[in-house]
Amino acid sequence: MKERLEELRNEALEKVEKAENIKELQDVRVSYLGKKGPITEVLRGMGKLPAEERPVIGQLANDVRESIARAIEDKQTELEKEALEQRLREETIDVTLPGRPNQVGGPHLLTKLIQEIEDLFIGMGFEVAEGPEVETDYYNFEALNLPKGHPARDMQDSFYITEEILMRTHTSPVQARTMEKHEGKGPVKIICPGKVYRRDTDDATHSHQFTQIEGLFVDKNVRMSDLKGVLNTFAKKMFGEDREIRLRPSFFPFTEPSVEMDISCKICRGEGCSVCKGTGWIEILGAGMVHPNVLRMAGFDPDVYNGFAFGMGPERIAMLKYGIDDIRHFYINDVRFLKQFHQA
Ligand code: PHE
Repeated sequence: MKERLEELRNEALEKVEKAENIKELQDVRVSYLGKKGPITEVLRGMGKLPAEERPVIGQLANDVRESIARAIEDKQTELEKEALEQRLREETIDVTLPGRPNQVGGPHLLTKLIQEIEDLFIGMGFEVAEGPEVETDYYNFEALNLPKGHPARDMQDSFYITEEILMRTHTSPVQARTMEKHEGKGPVKIICPGKVYRRDTDDATHSHQFTQIEGLFVDKNVRMSDLKGVLNTFAKKMFGEDREIRLRPSFFPFTEPSVEMDISCKICRGEGCSVCKGTGWIEILGAGMVHPNVLRMAGFDPDVYNGFAFGMGPERIAMLKYGIDDIRHFYINDVRFLKQFHQA
């Protein structure tokens, strides 16, 4: 019986030693120390032993049991430690690895440019006014001295929704609406930024949807020289102090007289190059003195009040300022293009 116990001890200890994980160790515990295990069996057979041998075998059995239990415990501690170390090894974080940078977006080039232009005019006492993009024929055309059938309507091919409703072709209707709200009393000094729509085939210089900023100043004794001063200040702040402006006669139904403003070409400084098509000047915007009919229709007395108005396209200004050669770049949303202007 003694030998049997020693044999069991050796067997068990060997299995404990070989156990590779907690599960295997548990199996050893159950099979050797459990109620149906061989040691219990040995103890159960003790009744058959002579009385003097019983304490010796009993002691030995307890001793074997204890040594196996201790070995299991030690092995368990060891396995747990190993498992922990392995987890720590696997889950190590290399804090020296460079992190993934957050992709930070930024306002669109046009948004920024429009804000910049707004700021320039706010600095000269203008307020920002906005209005609907879906507009009535009355505000888009008639109130601006463009009655139905007027040939100048062809200058702005339109997207009609019904006979009387269309996508606005310019932001001038906001001027008509704002004047009306003033109920014949000046001053009105606003700029109107926003999206406009024209039936154009998209190409490098045309887009069926683009943006405009128009300005309006109505008061008593507003003169053409006031218009020139405001536009000159704008041009120099926007394009550089060394730029000159010039006004050329033009035609718009809502202004009389009407002009177009050019700035001197930065590339050739007036000599003539491909950017200014050899003229030394680049066209920037349209402007003029508000037509008496427009004032009258908006409730102002043209014998008391007069004013000037101007309108420009931020896309065109951005193209000139940053050397962009295709208006479609603004709307394709290629981040490689847009990103270049995050710092601009
Ligand atoms: N509304 C004109 C256009 O879109 C621009 C403009 C505004 C011209 C004010 C003169 C005065 O073409």
